[in-house]
Amino acid sequence: MLPARSTIGILGGGQLGRMLAVAALQLGYRVIGYAPAGDNVAADACTAFITADWDDAAALAEFAAACDVVTWEFENVPISTVAAIPQPRLACPLRALEVAQNRFHEKQFIAELGGTPAPYTRVESEADFAAAITRIGTPGILKTARDGYDGKGQWRVRSALEAGGVRLPGVTCIYEGFVTYETEFSVILVRGQDGAIRFWDSTANLHDGGMLTQSVLPAGALVEAQVPAARELAAKTANALGYVGVLTLEFFATRNGPVFNEMAPRVHNSGHWTIEGAATSQFENHIRAICGLPLGGTATRFEAIDMRNIVGDAALTAHRILAEPGEPHLHLYGKREAREGRKMGHVTRVGHALK
Ligand SMILES: Nc1ncnc2c1ncn2[C@@H]1O[C@H](COP(=O)(O)OP(=O)(O)O)[C@@H](O)[C@H]1O
Ligand SMILES: [Mg+2]
Repeated sequence: MLPARSTIGILGGGQLGRMLAVAALQLGYRVIGYAPAGDNVAADACTAFITADWDDAAALAEFAAACDVVTWEFENVPISTVAAIPQPRLACPLRALEVAQNRFHEKQFIAELGGTPAPYTRVESEADFAAAITRIGTPGILKTARDGYDGKGQWRVRSALEAGGVRLPGVTCIYEGFVTYETEFSVILVRGQDGAIRFWDSTANLHDGGMLTQSVLPAGALVEAQVPAARELAAKTANALGYVGVLTLEFFATRNGPVFNEMAPRVHNSGHWTIEGAATSQFENHIRAICGLPLGGTATRFEAIDMRNIVGDAALTAHRILAEPGEPHLHLYGKREAREGRKMGHVTRVGHALK
Protein backbone atom coordinates (compact mmCIF):
# COMPACT_ATOMS: atom_id res chain seq x y z
CA MET A 1 0.00 0.00 0.00
CA LEU A 2 1.42 3.33 -1.03
CA PRO A 3 1.61 5.53 2.08
CA ALA A 4 -0.12 8.92 2.28
CA ARG A 5 1.89 11.81 0.79
CA SER A 6 3.35 9.50 -1.83
CA THR A 7 3.27 10.99 -5.31
CA ILE A 8 1.09 9.80 -8.15
CA GLY A 9 2.11 10.88 -11.64
CA ILE A 10 -0.56 11.34 -14.29
CA LEU A 11 0.32 11.51 -17.99
CA GLY A 12 -2.21 13.73 -19.78
CA GLY A 13 -3.85 16.96 -18.69
CA GLY A 14 -7.57 16.64 -19.46
CA GLN A 15 -10.73 16.32 -17.40
CA LEU A 16 -10.12 12.64 -16.64
CA GLY A 17 -6.79 13.59 -15.07
CA ARG A 18 -8.48 16.38 -13.17
CA MET A 19 -11.05 14.02 -11.65
CA LEU A 20 -8.38 11.39 -10.92
CA ALA A 21 -6.29 14.04 -9.17
CA VAL A 22 -9.24 15.10 -6.99
CA ALA A 23 -9.71 11.46 -5.92
CA ALA A 24 -5.98 11.05 -5.24
CA LEU A 25 -5.82 14.21 -3.13
CA GLN A 26 -8.78 13.00 -1.08
CA LEU A 27 -6.82 9.85 -0.24
CA GLY A 28 -3.87 11.91 0.97
CA TYR A 29 -1.63 11.61 -2.07
CA ARG A 30 0.27 14.25 -3.96
CA VAL A 31 -0.22 14.43 -7.73
CA ILE A 32 2.14 15.53 -10.48
CA GLY A 33 0.62 15.94 -13.93
CA TYR A 34 2.54 15.89 -17.20
CA ALA A 35 1.35 17.01 -20.63
CA PRO A 36 2.43 19.16 -23.56
CA ALA A 37 1.32 22.81 -23.59
CA GLY A 38 -2.44 23.18 -24.02
CA ASP A 39 -5.58 23.69 -22.00
CA ASN A 40 -4.42 21.31 -19.27
CA VAL A 41 -7.37 21.50 -16.89
CA ALA A 42 -5.92 18.72 -14.73
CA ALA A 43 -3.25 21.19 -13.60
CA ASP A 44 -5.80 23.02 -11.41
CA ALA A 45 -6.12 19.90 -9.27
CA CYS A 46 -2.48 18.77 -9.26
CA THR A 47 0.12 19.45 -6.59
CA ALA A 48 2.52 20.26 -9.45
CA PHE A 49 2.28 20.12 -13.21
CA ILE A 50 5.05 19.68 -15.76
CA THR A 51 4.27 21.22 -19.15
CA ALA A 52 6.61 19.59 -21.66
CA ASP A 53 6.51 17.72 -24.94
CA TRP A 54 5.96 13.97 -24.92
CA ASP A 55 9.50 13.44 -26.19
CA ASP A 56 11.27 15.78 -23.75
CA ALA A 57 13.63 13.23 -22.17
CA ALA A 58 14.90 15.57 -19.44
CA ALA A 59 11.40 16.61 -18.34
CA LEU A 60 10.24 12.99 -18.39
CA ALA A 61 13.19 11.91 -16.25
CA GLU A 62 12.40 14.69 -13.76
CA PHE A 63 8.74 13.63 -13.71
CA ALA A 64 9.52 9.93 -13.25
CA ALA A 65 12.02 10.62 -10.47
CA ALA A 66 9.42 12.65 -8.56
CA CYS A 67 6.68 9.98 -8.75
CA ASP A 68 6.14 6.81 -6.75
CA VAL A 69 3.64 5.48 -9.26
CA VAL A 70 2.67 6.68 -12.76
CA THR A 71 -0.64 6.29 -14.58
CA TRP A 72 -2.25 7.90 -17.64
CA GLU A 73 -5.57 9.56 -18.31
CA PHE A 74 -5.14 9.80 -22.07
CA GLU A 75 -4.75 6.69 -24.20
CA ASN A 76 -2.79 8.36 -26.97
CA VAL A 77 0.30 9.15 -24.88
CA PRO A 78 3.13 7.97 -27.18
CA ILE A 79 4.42 4.50 -26.28
CA SER A 80 7.98 5.86 -26.26
CA THR A 81 6.96 8.37 -23.55
CA VAL A 82 5.52 5.68 -21.31
CA ALA A 83 8.44 3.37 -22.05
CA ALA A 84 10.76 6.07 -20.66
CA ILE A 85 9.18 5.66 -17.20
CA PRO A 86 11.09 3.03 -15.18
CA GLN A 87 9.00 -0.16 -15.27
CA PRO A 88 8.43 -0.61 -11.51
CA ARG A 89 6.74 2.80 -11.32
CA LEU A 90 4.27 2.09 -14.12
CA ALA A 91 0.88 1.32 -12.59
CA CYS A 92 -0.74 -0.21 -15.67
CA PRO A 93 0.90 -2.45 -18.27
CA LEU A 94 2.30 -0.68 -21.34
CA ARG A 95 0.83 -3.47 -23.47
CA ALA A 96 -2.69 -2.24 -22.64
CA LEU A 97 -1.83 1.11 -24.18
CA GLU A 98 -0.19 -0.50 -27.22
CA VAL A 99 -3.26 -2.61 -27.92
CA ALA A 100 -5.76 0.20 -27.37
CA GLN A 101 -3.89 2.75 -29.49
CA ASN A 102 -4.47 0.83 -32.69
CA ARG A 103 -8.04 -0.08 -33.64
CA PHE A 104 -6.74 -2.97 -35.73
CA HIS A 105 -4.71 -4.56 -32.92
CA GLU A 106 -7.52 -3.91 -30.48
CA LYS A 107 -10.09 -5.80 -32.55
CA GLN A 108 -7.65 -8.63 -33.25
CA PHE A 109 -6.80 -8.94 -29.56
CA ILE A 110 -10.46 -9.06 -28.55
CA ALA A 111 -11.36 -11.55 -31.29
CA GLU A 112 -8.57 -13.86 -30.06
CA LEU A 113 -10.15 -13.75 -26.61
CA GLY A 114 -13.48 -14.84 -28.08
CA GLY A 115 -15.13 -11.41 -28.51
CA THR A 116 -17.09 -10.37 -31.59
CA PRO A 117 -16.08 -7.10 -33.25
CA ALA A 118 -17.86 -5.64 -36.30
CA PRO A 119 -16.43 -7.00 -39.57
CA TYR A 120 -13.27 -4.99 -40.24
CA THR A 121 -10.31 -4.73 -42.56
CA ARG A 122 -7.16 -2.65 -42.85
CA VAL A 123 -7.09 0.17 -45.43
CA GLU A 124 -3.73 1.57 -46.56
CA SER A 125 -4.57 2.49 -50.15
CA GLU A 126 -7.39 3.23 -52.61
CA ALA A 127 -7.21 -0.41 -53.75
CA ASP A 128 -7.59 -1.63 -50.14
CA PHE A 129 -10.57 0.68 -49.70
CA ALA A 130 -12.28 -0.57 -52.86
CA ALA A 131 -11.66 -4.17 -51.74
CA ALA A 132 -13.03 -3.35 -48.27
CA ILE A 133 -16.23 -1.94 -49.76
CA THR A 134 -16.64 -5.06 -51.89
CA ARG A 135 -15.92 -7.48 -49.04
CA ILE A 136 -17.68 -5.77 -46.11
CA GLY A 137 -20.23 -3.68 -48.03
CA THR A 138 -22.05 -0.53 -47.01
CA PRO A 139 -23.05 1.15 -44.80
CA GLY A 140 -19.75 1.21 -42.99
CA ILE A 141 -17.32 3.51 -41.23
CA LEU A 142 -13.78 4.36 -42.21
CA LYS A 143 -11.68 5.24 -39.15
CA THR A 144 -8.06 6.22 -38.71
CA ALA A 145 -6.38 3.25 -37.00
CA ARG A 146 -4.82 5.61 -34.45
CA ASP A 147 -5.51 8.88 -32.64
CA GLY A 148 -9.30 9.08 -33.02
CA TYR A 149 -11.54 10.18 -30.15
CA ASP A 150 -15.09 11.51 -29.72
CA GLY A 151 -15.90 10.41 -33.28
CA LYS A 152 -12.99 12.39 -34.79
CA GLY A 153 -11.06 10.70 -37.58
CA GLN A 154 -14.16 8.83 -38.81
CA TRP A 155 -16.06 8.93 -42.09
CA ARG A 156 -19.41 7.26 -42.53
CA VAL A 157 -19.93 5.57 -45.87
CA ARG A 158 -23.61 5.09 -46.65
CA SER A 159 -23.30 3.58 -50.13
CA ALA A 160 -20.76 2.31 -52.63
CA LEU A 161 -21.42 5.48 -54.60
CA GLU A 162 -20.55 7.58 -51.57
CA ALA A 163 -17.35 5.57 -51.08
CA GLY A 164 -16.15 6.96 -54.40
CA GLY A 165 -16.21 10.46 -52.91
CA VAL A 166 -14.23 9.60 -49.76
CA ARG A 167 -10.71 10.97 -49.71
CA LEU A 168 -8.40 8.74 -47.67
CA PRO A 169 -6.58 10.67 -44.93
CA GLY A 170 -3.10 9.37 -45.81
CA VAL A 171 -2.66 7.30 -42.65
CA THR A 172 -3.50 3.66 -41.96
CA CYS A 173 -7.26 3.24 -41.58
CA ILE A 174 -9.70 0.54 -40.70
CA TYR A 175 -13.00 0.02 -42.49
CA GLU A 176 -15.80 -1.45 -40.38
CA GLY A 177 -19.24 -2.65 -41.26
CA PHE A 178 -21.94 -0.47 -39.69
CA VAL A 179 -23.47 -2.35 -36.77
CA THR A 180 -27.25 -2.26 -36.43
CA TYR A 181 -27.75 -2.04 -32.71
CA GLU A 182 -30.49 -1.29 -30.22
CA THR A 183 -28.31 0.41 -27.59
CA GLU A 184 -24.67 1.09 -26.86
CA PHE A 185 -23.28 0.19 -23.47
CA SER A 186 -19.95 -0.09 -21.74
CA VAL A 187 -18.42 -2.39 -19.17
CA ILE A 188 -16.24 -0.55 -16.70
CA LEU A 189 -14.20 -2.65 -14.31
CA VAL A 190 -11.44 -2.14 -11.81
CA ARG A 191 -8.76 -4.78 -11.30
CA GLY A 192 -6.63 -4.69 -8.19
CA GLN A 193 -2.97 -5.64 -7.87
CA ASP A 194 -4.11 -9.00 -6.51
CA GLY A 195 -6.14 -9.64 -9.69
CA ALA A 196 -9.55 -9.19 -8.03
CA ILE A 197 -12.09 -7.58 -10.38
CA ARG A 198 -15.16 -5.47 -9.66
CA PHE A 199 -17.67 -4.12 -12.18
CA TRP A 200 -19.90 -1.06 -12.12
CA ASP A 201 -23.37 -1.35 -13.57
CA SER A 202 -23.50 -0.81 -17.32
CA THR A 203 -25.27 2.33 -18.50
CA ALA A 204 -27.00 2.71 -21.85
CA ASN A 205 -24.85 5.21 -23.75
CA LEU A 206 -26.22 7.69 -26.28
CA HIS A 207 -23.99 9.29 -28.88
CA ASP A 208 -24.33 12.19 -31.27
CA GLY A 209 -21.97 12.32 -34.24
CA GLY A 210 -19.73 9.71 -32.60
CA MET A 211 -19.46 11.56 -29.28
CA LEU A 212 -21.04 10.41 -26.02
CA THR A 213 -23.86 12.71 -24.92
CA GLN A 214 -25.67 10.77 -22.22
CA SER A 215 -25.38 7.66 -20.00
CA VAL A 216 -28.43 6.27 -18.22
CA LEU A 217 -29.39 3.60 -15.71
CA PRO A 218 -31.28 1.36 -15.81
CA ALA A 219 -29.94 0.47 -19.23
CA GLY A 220 -32.90 -1.68 -20.30
CA ALA A 221 -33.60 -5.39 -20.63
CA LEU A 222 -31.51 -6.01 -23.75
CA VAL A 223 -28.36 -4.52 -22.25
CA GLU A 224 -28.94 -6.28 -18.95
CA ALA A 225 -29.23 -9.61 -20.78
CA GLN A 226 -25.91 -8.99 -22.58
CA VAL A 227 -23.91 -7.66 -19.64
CA PRO A 228 -22.80 -11.09 -18.34
CA ALA A 229 -21.14 -12.06 -21.66
CA ALA A 230 -19.65 -8.58 -22.03
CA ARG A 231 -18.26 -8.72 -18.50
CA GLU A 232 -16.73 -12.10 -19.14
CA LEU A 233 -14.89 -10.69 -22.16
CA ALA A 234 -13.82 -7.58 -20.22
CA ALA A 235 -12.47 -9.73 -17.37
CA LYS A 236 -10.58 -11.96 -19.84
CA THR A 237 -9.10 -8.82 -21.40
CA ALA A 238 -8.00 -7.41 -18.04
CA ASN A 239 -6.51 -10.75 -16.99
CA ALA A 240 -4.73 -11.29 -20.31
CA LEU A 241 -3.10 -7.87 -19.97
CA GLY A 242 -2.30 -8.26 -16.27
CA TYR A 243 -4.18 -4.99 -15.98
CA VAL A 244 -4.30 -2.88 -12.82
CA GLY A 245 -6.80 -0.03 -12.47
CA VAL A 246 -9.94 0.93 -14.38
CA LEU A 247 -10.51 -0.58 -17.81
CA THR A 248 -13.45 0.10 -20.14
CA LEU A 249 -14.87 -1.89 -23.03
CA GLU A 250 -17.55 -0.37 -25.29
CA PHE A 251 -20.22 -2.57 -26.87
CA PHE A 252 -23.21 -2.47 -29.21
CA ALA A 253 -26.18 -4.44 -27.91
CA THR A 254 -27.51 -6.14 -31.06
CA ARG A 255 -30.21 -8.75 -31.60
CA ASN A 256 -27.39 -11.29 -31.95
CA GLY A 257 -25.62 -10.40 -28.73
CA PRO A 258 -22.93 -7.92 -27.71
CA VAL A 259 -20.62 -6.64 -30.46
CA PHE A 260 -17.32 -5.23 -29.20
CA ASN A 261 -16.59 -1.66 -30.34
CA GLU A 262 -13.42 -0.49 -28.61
CA MET A 263 -11.55 -0.51 -25.34
CA ALA A 264 -10.11 2.29 -23.24
CA PRO A 265 -7.34 1.43 -20.76
CA ARG A 266 -8.54 4.15 -18.41
CA VAL A 267 -11.47 5.75 -16.65
CA HIS A 268 -14.27 6.56 -19.08
CA ASN A 269 -16.84 9.27 -19.78
CA SER A 270 -19.66 6.73 -19.40
CA GLY A 271 -18.49 6.19 -15.80
CA HIS A 272 -18.73 9.79 -14.60
CA TRP A 273 -22.04 8.96 -12.92
CA THR A 274 -20.14 6.77 -10.43
CA ILE A 275 -18.93 9.90 -8.57
CA GLU A 276 -22.36 10.39 -7.00
CA GLY A 277 -24.12 7.24 -8.16
CA ALA A 278 -21.94 4.38 -6.94
CA ALA A 279 -20.51 3.31 -3.59
CA THR A 280 -17.03 4.20 -4.93
CA SER A 281 -16.31 6.20 -8.08
CA GLN A 282 -14.24 4.96 -11.02
CA PHE A 283 -11.70 7.68 -10.23
CA GLU A 284 -11.25 6.68 -6.61
CA ASN A 285 -11.07 2.97 -7.38
CA HIS A 286 -8.46 3.59 -10.08
CA ILE A 287 -6.32 5.42 -7.53
CA ARG A 288 -6.96 2.73 -4.91
CA ALA A 289 -5.98 -0.01 -7.38
CA ILE A 290 -2.72 1.58 -8.54
CA CYS A 291 -1.74 2.41 -4.94
CA GLY A 292 -2.47 -1.13 -3.71
CA LEU A 293 -5.26 0.03 -1.39
CA PRO A 294 -8.37 -2.08 -0.74
CA LEU A 295 -10.88 -1.52 -3.54
CA GLY A 296 -14.20 0.14 -2.75
CA GLY A 297 -17.65 -1.25 -3.52
CA THR A 298 -19.05 -0.55 -6.95
CA ALA A 299 -22.77 -0.97 -6.23
CA THR A 300 -25.18 1.59 -7.69
CA ARG A 301 -26.80 3.69 -4.97
CA PHE A 302 -29.89 4.97 -6.81
CA GLU A 303 -32.70 3.39 -8.78
CA ALA A 304 -32.09 5.71 -11.73
CA ILE A 305 -29.10 7.72 -12.97
CA ASP A 306 -28.81 10.21 -15.81
CA MET A 307 -25.44 11.69 -16.77
CA ARG A 308 -25.29 14.26 -19.56
CA ASN A 309 -22.26 15.92 -21.06
CA ILE A 310 -22.13 19.70 -21.27
CA VAL A 311 -20.68 20.49 -24.66
CA GLY A 312 -19.44 23.71 -26.27
CA ASP A 313 -20.91 27.04 -25.23
CA ALA A 314 -23.66 25.36 -23.15
CA ALA A 315 -20.97 25.56 -20.46
CA LEU A 316 -21.24 29.35 -20.35
CA THR A 317 -24.65 29.17 -18.65
CA ALA A 318 -24.25 25.77 -16.99
CA HIS A 319 -24.32 27.10 -13.42
CA ARG A 320 -28.03 27.78 -13.98
CA ILE A 321 -28.57 24.01 -13.90
CA LEU A 322 -28.05 24.22 -10.15
CA ALA A 323 -31.42 25.99 -9.81
CA GLU A 324 -33.24 23.05 -11.38
CA PRO A 325 -35.19 20.62 -9.17
CA GLY A 326 -33.83 17.18 -8.30
CA GLU A 327 -30.45 18.27 -6.90
CA PRO A 328 -28.41 17.99 -10.11
CA HIS A 329 -24.68 17.46 -9.58
CA LEU A 330 -22.72 19.79 -11.83
CA HIS A 331 -19.10 19.22 -12.82
CA LEU A 332 -17.32 21.84 -14.90
CA TYR A 333 -13.83 21.10 -16.12
CA GLY A 334 -12.58 24.70 -16.19
CA LYS A 335 -11.65 24.66 -19.88
CA ARG A 336 -10.78 28.07 -21.28
CA GLU A 337 -12.41 27.79 -24.69
CA ALA A 338 -15.98 26.55 -25.11
CA ARG A 339 -15.33 25.34 -28.66
CA GLU A 340 -18.12 23.58 -30.51
CA GLY A 341 -18.12 19.83 -29.84
CA ARG A 342 -15.77 20.15 -26.87
CA LYS A 343 -16.63 18.38 -23.62
CA MET A 344 -16.77 21.15 -21.02
CA GLY A 345 -18.45 19.42 -18.11
CA HIS A 346 -21.23 17.04 -17.16
CA VAL A 347 -24.29 16.93 -14.97
CA THR A 348 -25.51 13.88 -13.07
CA ARG A 349 -29.08 13.50 -11.86
CA VAL A 350 -30.04 10.64 -9.58
CA GLY A 351 -33.39 9.09 -8.71
CA HIS A 352 -34.50 7.61 -5.39
CA ALA A 353 -31.89 6.00 -3.20
CA LEU A 354 -31.87 2.20 -3.29
CA LYS A 355 -32.61 0.61 0.07
N1 LIG B 1 -19.06 -0.04 -36.67
C1 LIG B 1 -19.93 0.83 -36.13
N2 LIG B 1 -21.26 0.65 -36.30
C2 LIG B 1 -22.16 1.55 -35.79
N3 LIG B 1 -21.80 2.64 -35.10
C3 LIG B 1 -20.50 2.88 -34.90
C4 LIG B 1 -19.49 1.98 -35.39
N4 LIG B 1 -18.29 2.46 -35.04
C5 LIG B 1 -18.52 3.59 -34.35
N5 LIG B 1 -19.83 3.86 -34.26
C6 LIG B 1 -20.44 5.02 -33.56
O1 LIG B 1 -19.46 6.04 -33.40
C7 LIG B 1 -19.12 6.17 -32.00
C8 LIG B 1 -17.63 6.48 -31.83
O2 LIG B 1 -16.87 5.44 -32.39
P1 LIG B 1 -15.66 4.78 -31.61
O3 LIG B 1 -15.12 3.68 -32.45
O4 LIG B 1 -16.08 4.43 -30.23
O5 LIG B 1 -14.57 5.95 -31.64
P2 LIG B 1 -14.05 7.00 -30.55
O6 LIG B 1 -12.66 6.55 -30.30
O7 LIG B 1 -14.13 8.30 -31.27
O8 LIG B 1 -14.94 6.88 -29.34
C9 LIG B 1 -19.56 4.87 -31.37
O9 LIG B 1 -19.80 5.01 -29.99
C10 LIG B 1 -20.85 4.61 -32.17
O10 LIG B 1 -21.90 5.46 -31.74
MG1 LIG C 1 -15.66 5.18 -28.38
